[in-house]
Amino acid sequence: MPRSRTPRPALRALAGALPRRRRLPLRGSTVLITGGASGIGRLMALGAARRGAARVVVWDLDLSAAEAVAAEARALGAEAVAERVDVTDAAAVEAAAARAGAVDVAVNNAGVVTGARLEDATEEGIRRTFDVNALAPYWLTRAVLPGMKARDRGAVVVIASAAGLVGVARQTDYSATKHAAVGFAESLSAELRKDGSAVTALAVCPFYIDTGMFDGVRSRIPWLLPVLRQEEVAEQVLDAVEAGRTRLPLPRAVGLLAPLRALPTPVFDRAMDLMGVNDTMDGFTGRRPAVDVPAPDPRVFAPDGAAR
Ligand SMILES: NC(=O)c1ccc[n+]([C@@H]2O[C@H](COP(=O)([O-])OP(=O)(O)OC[C@H]3O[C@@H](n4cnc5c(N)ncnc54)[C@H](O)[C@@H]3O)[C@@H](O)[C@H]2O)c1
Repeated sequence: MPRSRTPRPALRALAGALPRRRRLPLRGSTVLITGGASGIGRLMALGAARRGAARVVVWDLDLSAAEAVAAEARALGAEAVAERVDVTDAAAVEAAAARAGAVDVAVNNAGVVTGARLEDATEEGIRRTFDVNALAPYWLTRAVLPGMKARDRGAVVVIASAAGLVGVARQTDYSATKHAAVGFAESLSAELRKDGSAVTALAVCPFYIDTGMFDGVRSRIPWLLPVLRQEEVAEQVLDAVEAGRTRLPLPRAVGLLAPLRALPTPVFDRAMDLMGVNDTMDGFTGRRPAVDVPAPDPRVFAPDGAAR
């Protein structure tokens, strides 16, 4: 019997039918990052400078922290500016984007989380989560996309979450906004492909990262789903931008969610429960505000608690 052979021409035809990846070297590029004052935003700003970006634009609510990041980026050789921009303010975003000039890579990174169960969530918290995580990417992208399309070069990055691919207990607001972010990036990517544009849209879907935003969370299966190191996430996002990718699940196991969705829903739900996905938030505290706790006055507090 003749041995079955790999249908090479068929595979070649299939590969040829796939959209070609549009590589985008960061060297010489202008990179704008929202929420760039801390966490992975700060590290992506510095990583872009290290990779030779010509200009790094850091937006955040915290101007002094954003300025410190810009100074670090300048020390790495990039031109860098910081601005206080509230990404939920569409008019402010449009004006700041005009001041930023031509942007090659726009990273929608600013994000917030409440960690509240639905019954405990406040209307203000829910609205804010949607404003920052789901709606802000529209305002920035609409401001920078025409320029990118005119130059036929650019990448819109949306830092979504693994919670944009699966619902998680205590994340009815957060997970919903990250599903919106994934849908936004995927639909934008489809529009750009349809237009034959070289501009790309990348949805980043990480599991928890050790930035402090999700302090207190834990993974039941850290060998498969570890809490990610922020330095690694920042580098992987920049790699994905340069490679022209459109989806980045982190770690790789997060990419298994899509095929697992083929299971009957009760089986999928049970699998998530058994993997501890819905217990991850049990110990969530989030980033607690840094408070200066004065050292106890030794004249007042003796080790045994008695006043001296
Ligand atoms: N930390 C995680 O476990 C994790 C996991 C998956 C996805 N993400 C996503 O990654 C992104 C970065 O998170 P991080 O962990 O670095 O958190 P972070 O809290 O360190 O950084 C978020 C930044 O966004 C800024 N910001 C918040 N609201 C803003 C607004 N209205 N306008 C401008 N800036 C604003 C904050 O000031 C902060 O500097 C977020 O979108 C987050 O949802 C985080």
